[in-house]
Amino acid sequence: MSPEPMPDTQPATMRAIVQTAYGKTGNLELRTVPRPTVGDGEVLVRVHATGFNDADWSLIRGKPFFVRLFGGVRGHRGRILGADVAGEVVAVGPGVTRFSRGDRVFGDLSEHGNGGFAEYLSTSEQAFTRIPDGLSYVDAAALPHAGNLAMQSLFDIGQLKPEHRLLVNGAGGGVGPLIAQLATHHGVRDIVGVDNADKQDFLREVGFARTLDYRAVDFTRSGEQFDVIVDTRLTRSPFSLPRALAPGGVYATVGATTSSLLGLALWGRLISRRSGKQVRMLWLKYNKSTPEVAELAASGVLKPLIDTVYPLADTALAMARFDASEHRGKIVIGVV
Ligand SMILES: NC(=O)c1ccc[n+]([C@@H]2O[C@H](COP(=O)([O-])OP(=O)(O)OC[C@H]3O[C@@H](n4cnc5c(N)ncnc54)[C@H](OP(=O)(O)O)[C@@H]3O)[C@@H](O)[C@H]2O)c1
Repeated sequence: MSPEPMPDTQPATMRAIVQTAYGKTGNLELRTVPRPTVGDGEVLVRVHATGFNDADWSLIRGKPFFVRLFGGVRGHRGRILGADVAGEVVAVGPGVTRFSRGDRVFGDLSEHGNGGFAEYLSTSEQAFTRIPDGLSYVDAAALPHAGNLAMQSLFDIGQLKPEHRLLVNGAGGGVGPLIAQLATHHGVRDIVGVDNADKQDFLREVGFARTLDYRAVDFTRSGEQFDVIVDTRLTRSPFSLPRALAPGGVYATVGATTSSLLGLALWGRLISRRSGKQVRMLWLKYNKSTPEVAELAASGVLKPLIDTVYPLADTALAMARFDASEHRGKIVIGVV
């Protein structure tokens, strides 16, 4: 039975970070704007924390170019970004069945209009999962996007088994540490993380048994082979990838530039057929894995690594830190 719709008692305006054009952080303005109202099937959420992802950075800059296919060629004037949201339901619209006022919820709003860099947002209840008891809003906001990428690359594509050897290229960002935690929990022992020299200690701290510096070593030429490779960058030629895969091995990239993505789309099938090894791109299914991510976080398997929490007004500073690659772990915007 649907709970009774509840009266909306929240203020009529809110603070939000508004994008005025594509580009760097100068195109983000802190403004007071009308607060969204709650519609049919929607929940109004008081945002407590919003995680920052490479996907946000792409939408802010309009790079790689293909993101403009979704966001408009010149960028949206007045758009509020921010996908990885954790907050409290403060009003529910007609037809909402899963949540009530006071519920703590989190989710990736990439397919639901974003809106997390603001004090409130209203969107479909389908975007959200309950935050488990004991998990803070900040930790919850660090999990949906990266957690789904980690789960789907390792298990949906990689079919990871305890006896597998695993390599993660671009391991020191938002996704790599969660991959290390999940793989370790799954019984995998040989986990290699590839990132720059400054991140080698960090990689070992978060669970990588061995590490490589991508500027010193090309993992496709090291002579070693792995059963599963997850890549967050796709920086090597797709033709070189089978060399690093054991017979029957699987390579899954979760991130790529436009040109490397086109290269993989063009040649991936042929490379896979000729090598007998799978070379694939993950198309993220937003929030498919969020309920499992919630359970794994509740049981302590997934522990997001928080680099810095910035107040909403300092969102541009947070992005500058991300752009300079100074962060170790997740950057989160603490909205209240
Ligand atoms: N598949 C999908 O449907 C989908 C959906 C949304 C997002 N994504 C993508 O998924 C990826 C998520 O990864 P993430 O959040 O972990 O990214 P991230 O936080 O940007 O981390 C990437 C790491 O790779 C490192 N790196 C840079 N150049 C490298 C190279 N040549 N070789 C090896 N490592 C290198 C970076 O280090 P430095 O730069 O500091 O050296 C950084 O530590 C992003 O690319 C995002 O765009 C995919």
